[in-house]
Amino acid sequence: MNRRAIVAANWKMNGSLALVNSMVSELNNVTLNENVEVVVCPSFPYLAAFSIASSNVNLPTAFSLGAQNLSEHAKGAFTGEVSTSMLQEFGVNYVIVGHSERRSIYKETSTLVAQKIKAALAAGLQPILCIGESEDERVAEQTNVVLAAQLQPVIDEIGIEKFADVVVAYEPVWAIGTGKTASPEMAQTTHQFIREFIAKIDESVAVKVPLLYGGSVNATNCEELFAQADIDGGLIGGASLKAEEFKIICSAAKG
Ligand code: PGA
Repeated sequence: MNRRAIVAANWKMNGSLALVNSMVSELNNVTLNENVEVVVCPSFPYLAAFSIASSNVNLPTAFSLGAQNLSEHAKGAFTGEVSTSMLQEFGVNYVIVGHSERRSIYKETSTLVAQKIKAALAAGLQPILCIGESEDERVAEQTNVVLAAQLQPVIDEIGIEKFADVVVAYEPVWAIGTGKTASPEMAQTTHQFIREFIAKIDESVAVKVPLLYGGSVNATNCEELFAQADIDGGLIGGASLKAEEFKIICSAAKG
């Protein structure tokens, strides 16, 4: 079976209206392999602009819009939060959940991450669940333990059948924004662990779930990373802000 591949752009707290408009017109002429989807995740205020700009140029359906976060609540007195229905009104299909910056800076626990994944799925949004170990955890050979502890609460919360609609992004924390990338072999070994972890619970779900790699992916290293058997695309930070480089990464993905 050919799994779908995804290249997702995580703009973090970067970008501008000008970048939204230029990126949409640049993406309109990128060539994608079959079964590849591109998801752009700008900050909340730019979602509407991205949605309008992409319908103006008739961006192909392989391109989708994603948010970087969401509330686990449906509505109410939660100042500063954004709900699933608000995201959907602006054409959002994907949402990044549990990015390591949210876990470390904003103290999001795996329990909260699981609740957010549940809220996203209940609304029909596809969550991109981020997991990854710190440098100390890798050195202490705790990588698999950490990843299992990040995956299990989500599986417990939503059930394994619904996990088939989750996209997992493995992002070693030490590789994010540092220029240090996991070697393709190291990334593949970890992705294989993640797939086997899911397969032990349900093999049919494990073969379906796209596993993205993230952490200093760029135009030079993307091809080798994406060639690995269990790497189904990437979650791209810094390099997704530069249209020329991002287009190369998008074209390198294979479904
Ligand atoms: P990076 O970020 O590509 O700049 O390392 C990836 C991410 O944090 O999603």
